[in-house]
Amino acid sequence: MRKFDTVLVTGGCGFIGTNFIKYIFDKTNYKIINIDALTYAGNIKNLIDIENKDRYFFERVNICDAKKVNSIFEKYKPDCIVHFAAESHVDRSIFGPKDFIDTNIIGTFTLLEAARNLWKDNANGKLFHHISTDEVYGSLSDTGYFYETTAYDPRSPYSASKASSDHIVKAYYHTYNLPVTISNCSNNYGPYQFPEKLIPLMISNIIEEKDLPVYGDGKNIRDWIFVEDHNNAVLDIIYKGRVGETYNIGGENEITNIDMVNILCEKLASKMNKDKDYYKRLIKFVKDRAGHDRRYAINCDKIKKELGWKRQYDFNTAIDITIDWYLNNKEWIYDVKSGEYQKWIELNYSNSL
Ligand code: NAD
Ligand code: DAU
Repeated sequence: MRKFDTVLVTGGCGFIGTNFIKYIFDKTNYKIINIDALTYAGNIKNLIDIENKDRYFFERVNICDAKKVNSIFEKYKPDCIVHFAAESHVDRSIFGPKDFIDTNIIGTFTLLEAARNLWKDNANGKLFHHISTDEVYGSLSDTGYFYETTAYDPRSPYSASKASSDHIVKAYYHTYNLPVTISNCSNNYGPYQFPEKLIPLMISNIIEEKDLPVYGDGKNIRDWIFVEDHNNAVLDIIYKGRVGETYNIGGENEITNIDMVNILCEKLASKMNKDKDYYKRLIKFVKDRAGHDRRYAINCDKIKKELGWKRQYDFNTAIDITIDWYLNNKEWIYDVKSGEYQKWIELNYSNSL
């Protein structure tokens, strides 16, 4: 079992990174360094509870900036890096792929170089964990699963950029013996997810009684996992994962998009004391996403058998936790959706990038 003193997290102000930092802050005594550029998707206010704690440090840095990344690595000398930072939204990658190429490919390369340099004399017990996605495997038809051995077949600029970064991470293991692990996870849901992704978008639109846009026929399937179960798996990997290995993480919880939207409509109707079908009138089938992957389904036997990971949450419980979080945090939704948060960042953090 590995032990660390200093864990450097990239993208810790985003959805999964925020949840990860809160989780490890509570569960460990590690010094935690959070480096994040605070793009539209990164919200520093998410971590307000720990911002003044003496074992938490935030640095506003673009991971493509090699000079700054190197100086931060030299300053804190992390023995573990958990790399979440990415451009993560498929639709945005279709309309503007460049940021995805920069952050996901060049940014990952920049971090790998900095880790290689920092650990050049002794990499024993160190670890670079790269967070990736099941989308690198492409699209499934009605049957079958993605295994760790499934050939990569990315189809969107987002998934192609993540696939590229996975290959570079593996190359650093084989070529330079850099101690790396990789995880490929299915669709996450939970608190702090930017309301452009299916679940928080639908919840926030239901709250505002706006249209619920369902792409194509609504029959595309995603495998949904609660964010805390994902983060638990990441902890298992950084403690016990075999260096050089890839681990799939999944919810084993396949749901069509239209079923998911109907579930959210019904659950919110019940919580808001409305008729069961009240919000379903907002559902609008719209033009399909270009190159829309039909089905994702993860086989995660490897992490279960090898590392003893198992999910703690069933879907029904975790989706209730998620919906309740958004209902109790309407200001957070307003702040990130309206652009108010970005204005605040530019006033308070404009000089630090
Ligand atoms: P997110 O978009 O919510 O957050 C991304 C974070 O990275 C933000 O805080 C943003 O400010 C930061 N960032 C972006 N570009 C940066 C740059 N150039 N330099 C420094 N920081 C930068 O993303 P998420 O949904 O939390 O995803 C985190 C990771 O998990 C990503 O690598 C993503 O590919 C992967 N992943 C996500 C899911 C999912 O369902 N959300 C599933 C599997 C894997
Ligand atoms: O599979 C893991 C991936 O899951 C992560 O790597 C990505 O970072 C994350 O964004 C997510 O990608 P998806 O494209 O699957 O997520 P999204 O929430 O954008 O869409 C989920 C499904 O819902 C997808 O089939 C498209 C559909 N959809 C999405 C939106 C935003 C709609 O029908 N309407 C919408 O408005």
